[in-house]
Amino acid sequence: HTIDFSTLNGYTSYILRGVFVTLLFTIVSALLGFIWGTVLSLFKLSTVKPLVWFATVYTSVFRGTPLLLQLVLIYYATPQLTGYDIPPLMAAGLAFGLNSAAYLSETIRGGIMAVDRGQREAAMALGIPYRTMMISIIFPQAVKNILPALVNECVALIKESSLVSVIGVTDLLRRASVVQAANYRALEPLLFVGAIYYVLVLILTSLARLLERRLRRSD
Ligand code: ARG
Repeated sequence: HTIDFSTLNGYTSYILRGVFVTLLFTIVSALLGFIWGTVLSLFKLSTVKPLVWFATVYTSVFRGTPLLLQLVLIYYATPQLTGYDIPPLMAAGLAFGLNSAAYLSETIRGGIMAVDRGQREAAMALGIPYRTMMISIIFPQAVKNILPALVNECVALIKESSLVSVIGVTDLLRRASVVQAANYRALEPLLFVGAIYYVLVLILTSLARLLERRLRRSD
C-alpha cells in the first residue's frame, strides 16, 4: 500500500521514450495549428464575405465541440469515409492542428488588429504591396504582441496531447497505463508521467520568458 518507486525499475526508459512521442506530436500540431490559424485569421480580416463566413463557422464548430470527439471522429471516420486507414499519430496531429487553428485564428486576428494602423498607412504610402506589408511589417509585430498567448497554446497542446492515448498512440500517458497493466501499480507510473508533463511545461514557459525578455530589450 505504500508508494514505491522501485516498482518502476526496468520501465523508466520505456516511459521516457514517450517524451519524444508527446513532443513530436505537440510540435507538429502546433505548427499545423499556427499555419492554418494564420490563414483563418486572414480570412476573418478579409473583405471577401464567403471567406469571413467560412472562418467564423469553422472556429465556432471547432471550439464548440469536444477535442476528444474531433479526435475519435477523424481517427474512426476517415477509414469509413475514404477507405484509408489513417495512422493514429496522423489522426492525432490532424485533429489537434485543426482544433488549435480555431483558437489561434482568434489570437492572431487580435494580434494583427492590435498593430498600430500607422504602420499600415505608412506602408501603403510607400507603395509597399499588400503581401510584403503583411509578411515583413504587420505579421512580425503581431506575433510579438501575442507571444504569451502562443506559449499558452503550446502549454495547452502539451497537456491535451494526453488525449491521444485513447486512440492508441503510445505517448506518455499511454505508457503509464501500459506499465500499470504490467506491474499492477497505478500510483507510481502516473505520478512519474505527471512529473514529466510538469517539467516539460516548466521548460517551455521558462524558454518563453527568456525569449520575451530578449524581444523587449530590442524595443
Ligand atoms: N479541452 C478542450 C476541449 O475538450 C480543448 C481545449 C483546446 N484548447 C486549445 N487552446 N487548443 O475541447
